[in-house]
Amino acid sequence: MNVLEIDGLTVALPAGRAARPLLSDVSLHVAQGEVVGLVGESGSGKSLTCRAALGALPPRASAEGSVRTVGDDVFALSARALRRLRSEKVGLVPQDPRAAVNPLYRVGDYLVEAVRAAGVPQAEARARAVTLLGDVGIREPERALRCWPHEFSGGMLQRVAIAGALAGRPALLLADEPTTALDVTIQAEVLSILLDITAQRSAGLLLVTHDLELAAAVCDRVYVMYAGRIIEAQPAASLFASPRHPYTAGLLHATPSLAGPVGRLEAVPGRPLGLDEAVPGCSFSARCPHVRPTCTEVVPDLVSQPGAGGIAVACLRADELRDELRRSGPGRADPDHPVLEEQPA
Ligand SMILES: Nc1ncnc2c1ncn2[C@@H]1O[C@H](COP(=O)(O)OP(=O)(O)O)[C@@H](O)[C@H]1O
Ligand SMILES: [Mg+2]
Repeated sequence: MNVLEIDGLTVALPAGRAARPLLSDVSLHVAQGEVVGLVGESGSGKSLTCRAALGALPPRASAEGSVRTVGDDVFALSARALRRLRSEKVGLVPQDPRAAVNPLYRVGDYLVEAVRAAGVPQAEARARAVTLLGDVGIREPERALRCWPHEFSGGMLQRVAIAGALAGRPALLLADEPTTALDVTIQAEVLSILLDITAQRSAGLLLVTHDLELAAAVCDRVYVMYAGRIIEAQPAASLFASPRHPYTAGLLHATPSLAGPVGRLEAVPGRPLGLDEAVPGCSFSARCPHVRPTCTEVVPDLVSQPGAGGIAVACLRADELRDELRRSGPGRADPDHPVLEEQPA
């Protein structure tokens, strides 16, 4: 069963506000029990895709296509049903827990409120909050409930936010860059809690990150986004060795080695396409080392590749480039030791 199913989603601002849609023909799904990565540079449309899953689009934006989240058609829901979807069926793990957890309330008040919003009666809410804190590995949960957010480190507060996201026993977790606001040293720890919890509850997890290597290491499947489009979809196991889109290959090639220095590399020369820029052909053509004249004329469809494996790529030259883009060198990242990089400014 798919806990998230987005089909042909195009989201556009009113005429004159942008030269291209914010999202163009985005299709993706997350099955129950699956960890799915959504990767792309800043501004590619990852957060908007998450918001669409919750039925929350920018004001006055128009949408075509369909979004089914845990069985609900989000664009057809009443305001009340949408609230239920957001508080009970989907868990949203924030990017920055300090921005998500109100500093003026005790941790317990934050959690109890989340549990209450998910329909748990007042009498049971506190006990449930204690259980949730235990689930995310917080020792002495009773004491933690009485703490203030500022008494917690970023990593501990992100655990609290994850506990809050779990309040309604969600079938789908949306984690939008869940570790980029945290210290590098605790990023892996928080990520592993999130992965453990997803597995224990056989929920689906959509993990949004700008870090393709991380996604390839921990996800079952990965979608790569560029300028509002999905340009590649592939099981993580094969993606790392055989990226099929030049953009994906560029992101992976820029990583010198898994054991190499940790630092910020300019992944792909050039910069992403802005919202005020529309190009006639492939939106990556201006940065693509494999560009041909047709690439600047024809928008490539996302085409499923022959054979099993669920690989799809949006590149006119996908077949010709197949062998050239295959990676030699280090194999797939060790899933137990994902390499984590610092968030770019
Ligand atoms: N509420 C909004 N109104 C207008 N434009 C928006 C809004 N939210 C996002 N955008 C634009 O949509 C594009 C995709 O944004 P976003 O999904 O936040 O990217 P990402 O999460 O991949 O960094 C960006 O160009 C951003 O400026
Ligand atoms: Mg974002």
